[in-house]
Amino acid sequence: MAETREPDTRVRFPWLRLSPATVPGRLATATVAAALLLAALALPVTRWLLWRWESNPVLRGRLLAEDSGCFNCHFGFSRAEIPNPGSRWGSVPRFGAGNAMMYVESRAEIEEFIRFGATRAWLDDAKAAARLASQHLRMPPYGDRLDDREIADLVSFVAAVERLPSANDPDDEGRTLARDHGCLACHGIDGSGGLPNLGSLGGFIPGFRGRNFEDMVRDRTEFREWVLDGTNSRLESNPVIRYFWKRQTIAMPAYRDRLDSEQVDSLWQWVSSLDESRERKPSGA
Ligand code: HEC
Ligand code: HEC
Repeated sequence: MAETREPDTRVRFPWLRLSPATVPGRLATATVAAALLLAALALPVTRWLLWRWESNPVLRGRLLAEDSGCFNCHFGFSRAEIPNPGSRWGSVPRFGAGNAMMYVESRAEIEEFIRFGATRAWLDDAKAAARLASQHLRMPPYGDRLDDREIADLVSFVAAVERLPSANDPDDEGRTLARDHGCLACHGIDGSGGLPNLGSLGGFIPGFRGRNFEDMVRDRTEFREWVLDGTNSRLESNPVIRYFWKRQTIAMPAYRDRLDSEQVDSLWQWVSSLDESRERKPSGA
């Protein structure tokens, strides 16, 4: 009379009220949910530990210039300069078009423009001062609105975007190569980084200075690999980094067919000369 009975699964798994058939599915769901939760909790922390927002004088200066309205007058998005009747050159100089040399000779004079709206030399010269007083548009003085550090960052930005000769790499060869090969389009003005890259680890493209750069490029050999092959084998072996590299929208292109060994060396020389302490000084020539 032995009747075979279905085992009472609710007794076996009372806490889950599961039947053997549903266990694998539910377990899988629970595991995925837990993993997602963990990842959600851990990711910002991991990201924060691994990666910092880029910060250097040129990049801070660019963002501050945007916030301070400098580009209203200086960036003419149509690429045309704003006419300025009565002024020395007849228009407002556009940043990035190489105009600075017609107005300033040094970082110190850039600083004067930002603080006082003109160089001391102009302000002290009766004829120049009369012209300034009568011209249609004038550069506003920002000395009372911004603190010394902000002004120093703006000076670094203007000097970089106007390509004032850099003290540490006077022949300018690496910098010219970087500009001519489009490196700076992705890596920011003078390699200041921080341009957007959806899906990447920090959401931006790193520059050529600061902590992120040091993490990603330990030495000349790693730099060569980055430029020639668009990668770094040390970092590629890290699964977290690989995960982000696959997701990011913009990848580092390989320049093996476009740059020779000497050019990569010039680039490295320039990149290694990008020393922040030099730029932080408000009026170092
Ligand atoms: C109202 C328009 C206006 C705004 C806003 C403005 N400027 Fe100017 N700026 C000028 C004009 C005009 C000149 C050219 C000088 C002249 O002809 O009197 C000039 C010249 C300069 C120069 C010297 C020329 C050069 O290209 O290097 C610098 C540097 C400069 N401005 C920086 C800045 C910065 C930084 C900001 C924002 C903090 C700013 N300007 C905001 C109008 C403006
Ligand atoms: C189309 C955009 C683009 C161009 C052009 C480009 N890069 Fe990159 N580069 C990237 C991206 C994106 C990364 C980030 C790599 C990553 O995290 O996967 C990178 C990474 C690098 C790195 C290592 C990371 C760091 O901190 O800078 C170096 C060095 C580098 N590039 C140098 C260059 C040089 C030199 C050139 C020009 C010869 C150049 N890149 C041109 C997009 C670009």
